[in-house]
Amino acid sequence: MKGIVFSEFIELVEDKFGFEMADEIIEKSNLPSGGAYTSVGTYDHHELIELVTHLSAETGISVEDLVRTFGEHLLVRFSEGYPMFFETVDNCFDFLDTIENKVHVEVQKLYPEAELPTFDSQIESEKRMTLIYSSKRPFSALAYGLIKGASTYYGEQIEIEMDDQSSEGLTKVVFTLTKP
Ligand code: HEM
Repeated sequence: MKGIVFSEFIELVEDKFGFEMADEIIEKSNLPSGGAYTSVGTYDHHELIELVTHLSAETGISVEDLVRTFGEHLLVRFSEGYPMFFETVDNCFDFLDTIENKVHVEVQKLYPEAELPTFDSQIESEKRMTLIYSSKRPFSALAYGLIKGASTYYGEQIEIEMDDQSSEGLTKVVFTLTKP
């Protein structure tokens, strides 16, 4: 997983829980990288899971909630760092529809070693969309937060339902998004 994801996570922990908490979870985790992340480096995604697990133990907030919040934060950072992906569409469903065939395609060109999920998306009507997340990694909560963040970015109220259809070695979650 790219270092940008790790450095954003550590920054969010520092902001919300303080520098000491960030140091503490890095120390408690057994990290091959030692916790010194550069945005261009690539690290084992298990390091993120270990950091979040320790943060959850320290704060009493569930891993799921922490990762969702991180996804929302990441979406804000992406909208600052890559505004062109957001400005070419004017609503949340159309934006989410571009992740698989445009956004992540460009990300893969920029970082050939990036490990990205697949999204099978279908805009069914003005009020309903399905987005099927598949990955070898267990980051559907991150996807949830990113989707939530995108709805906030476009100022739309969207209800997000998750149906977990994962099997051994593959995370598969069907997201159904509906507007009131
Ligand atoms: C401009 C917007 C976006 C950019 C620039 C972007 C970029 C990235 C980058 C750099 C990674 C890390 C890849 C790696 O570590 O190897 C990533 C992973 C990921 N992205 Fe995106 N992304 C964007 C939007 C989204 C949205 C809206 C979603 C959800 C619908 C999403 C879902 C994910 C997930 C879940 C991962 C974690 C890897 C996995 O689950 O296998 N991304 N993305």
